[in-house]
Amino acid sequence: MSETSKEIIFSSAIIQKRVQEMAMQISADYKGRELVVIGVLKGAFIFMADLIRSVSIPCKVDFVRVASYGAGADSSGKVVLTKDIETSICGRDILIVEDIVDTGVTLQYLVNWLKERSPGSLKVCAFLDKRKRRKVSFEADYVGFTIDDGFVVGYGLDFSEEYRFLPDVYVIKNDKKDSK
Ligand code: IMP
Repeated sequence: MSETSKEIIFSSAIIQKRVQEMAMQISADYKGRELVVIGVLKGAFIFMADLIRSVSIPCKVDFVRVASYGAGADSSGKVVLTKDIETSICGRDILIVEDIVDTGVTLQYLVNWLKERSPGSLKVCAFLDKRKRRKVSFEADYVGFTIDDGFVVGYGLDFSEEYRFLPDVYVIKNDKKDSK
């Protein structure tokens, strides 16, 4: 592992408290219904696991994976689906769960792509939101924390496949973020 320096911005305890709050909100909004939760691999897997174990409504789960081709750490280029869902979503309540919204390109693409399959409803839940970095118009329906610019790792988020396993979230303190 490289010697990249990083600084904690959200502790595990703060994250767990916020996830509980989000789960309560989602449970209230979907009371009496069943959700199909679609996680965006790989970054969302830890957040999604915590979230679905905290909601009080029944959930089915599925995953998508996308590759984005753009400039370095940004995914401001072309988005390509590399793993499709295996669940029929027609007429069902769908919640996309993502680790972080940055330019908004990935989620805008995913929302448009899923809408073509005629879900009953479709919302997006993002653990983190870098609002100031948007390149396309996109708003998540549920957001854990809004952060400023800076590359963050931990709680599922990686820097060149490192740090996903960390229970806290850190901001990388140097410029060594050439790849996601
Ligand atoms: P967007 O399409 O620009 O919104 O990018 C979303 C994707 O970029 C996320 O799913 C992450 O994979 C990646 N990403 C953006 N910012 C960060 C970050 O700070 N840390 C780790 N991954 C990031």
